[in-house]
Amino acid sequence: MTDYDVIVLGGGPGGYVAAIRCAQLGLKTACIDDGVDGQGKSSLGGVCLNVGCIPSKALLETSHHFYHARHDFPAHGIRTGDVQIDVAAMQRRKQQVVTSLTGGIALLFAKHRVTHIKGHGCLLAGRRVRVVAGEADDEQIFSASNMIVATGSSPVELAAAPFDGERIVDSTGALAFTAVPKRLGVIGGGVIGLELGSVWSRLGAKTTLLVRGEQFLAKADQQLARAVQQDLEDEGLGICLGAKLVSVKKSAKQITVTYADGDGEHKLQVDKLLVAAGRRPNTGDIGAEDIGLKLDARGFIDVDADCRTNLPGIFAIGDVVRGPMLAHKASEEGVAVAERIAGQQPEVNDATIPFVIYTWPEIAWVGRSSEQLQAEGIDFVSGVFPFLANGRAHASGDTRGMVKILADARTDRILGVHIYGANASELIAEAVVAMAFAASAEDLARTIHAHPTLSEAIHEAALAVDKRPIHI
Ligand code: FAD
Ligand code: NAI
Repeated sequence: MTDYDVIVLGGGPGGYVAAIRCAQLGLKTACIDDGVDGQGKSSLGGVCLNVGCIPSKALLETSHHFYHARHDFPAHGIRTGDVQIDVAAMQRRKQQVVTSLTGGIALLFAKHRVTHIKGHGCLLAGRRVRVVAGEADDEQIFSASNMIVATGSSPVELAAAPFDGERIVDSTGALAFTAVPKRLGVIGGGVIGLELGSVWSRLGAKTTLLVRGEQFLAKADQQLARAVQQDLEDEGLGICLGAKLVSVKKSAKQITVTYADGDGEHKLQVDKLLVAAGRRPNTGDIGAEDIGLKLDARGFIDVDADCRTNLPGIFAIGDVVRGPMLAHKASEEGVAVAERIAGQQPEVNDATIPFVIYTWPEIAWVGRSSEQLQAEGIDFVSGVFPFLANGRAHASGDTRGMVKILADARTDRILGVHIYGANASELIAEAVVAMAFAASAEDLARTIHAHPTLSEAIHEAALAVDKRPIHI
């Protein structure tokens, strides 16, 4: 007789969603989580709610309003005088957003009768877990018929630029700056570098991104990536491609980052340095080795398509396993594993996971890029429609970007949709639904879109696949 039907280790968007779904399916469920807030109080929601998706979007929203008020309001005839940013108020608001959402998960656990066990869990043989809460002697052991490991990920630390929590920081540190740095350096041209770089750049920090690769946003469709890079540079964000980190030196006055590119060595002087060079799975201290849980070469838990590990009854989901490190991917895997444990036959369609980067304008895509399709030798056609030809974009005053739809040349089935423009994060949902239902470009072209909306650009891009757009 076990204590629970299911124990979920980790209460992030993978773990807490899995726990709720298990409980909905009538399984006696506990979720063990060691997450705490800034005051050391237990806080569910993992990286996403506490120091990831949510606080970053709260700061992006504030900094967008600030930038918009300064640069775009005059064109609308709105006079504001000198717009100022109160960083302390911005941070308080961010924290309120986080606290209200993390508290909401505790309420959902209570509603669904999920037991929340606070503390750090370590896997033991025989589907048991030892939980240490606070003091080392405050230890309990729980057992379950099934376990779901959802312990998430942590920032990669570079030997040349170790975090000091003050001036050389990870994303958590950059979410908590108490003043706008005069000069901000960012190592890494990925999602975090772009989003948090945008926040502080909009608020006035002279921000420089050092990007190791030669290509900007290598995973995005390069036609859009080039447009994004141009617009960000026009707004004052420094982007150095092919910049290999050589050394980082701290003095009382500043941090000097030495990097090398095709033109030789350069020095960048900054006041704060954000290191955003990827994340690694949290598998170091969960007892994986002791129980024989198989990890891959990079430390991710090895799972099959159904998120089963090599050990019977033990599943793993989210950032701690292969695939994109995204909250919605973690949650979908959580739901699917819960349903599988309950005897159902769910499926997660990896091909329709949307990607969004919350710069302004935003970048979002689903499916494959032109470069991927070319590399795979797939014959495709593309339809591109610029927001410059969209009425709503003109009315709102932001005509940057485009929609690009890629469809199979023979069957017209949609293979990828790429959006760079205002509200791309919301617009991409239509493309995800279309691809989930295996739609053709013609299906979208024959779907009525409300006027005037930004979504008409999707309609027109679908028409453009068949060379019959109306407004270009
Ligand atoms: P996590 O959210 O990392 O949760 C794991 C939980 O398990 C944590 O609470 C941790 O404390 C706990 N834990 C770990 N080990 C143990 C243990 N041994 N015992 C008990 N508890 C343990 N994704 C998006 O989709 N959209 C975004 O906009 C977005 N923005 C982001 C912004 C930033 C700055 C960062 C850092 C990430 C962002 N992400 C975003 C990524 C997203 O946060 C992750 O993909 C997501 O949180 C992964 O969920 P998870 O449940 O796998 O793990
Ligand atoms: P990333 O993988 O997006 O980018 C990492 C960057 O660091 C790359 O440009 C890479 O070339 C560079 N890099 C790696 N090692 C380096 C080194 N040794 N020296 C210099 N540069 C190096 O990772 P990032 O930005 O840290 O984000 C982590 C994860 O968080 C992402 O994978 C993403 O899935 C998730 N995330 C998602 C968001 C979203 O969905 N909007 C927002 C923020 C994070």
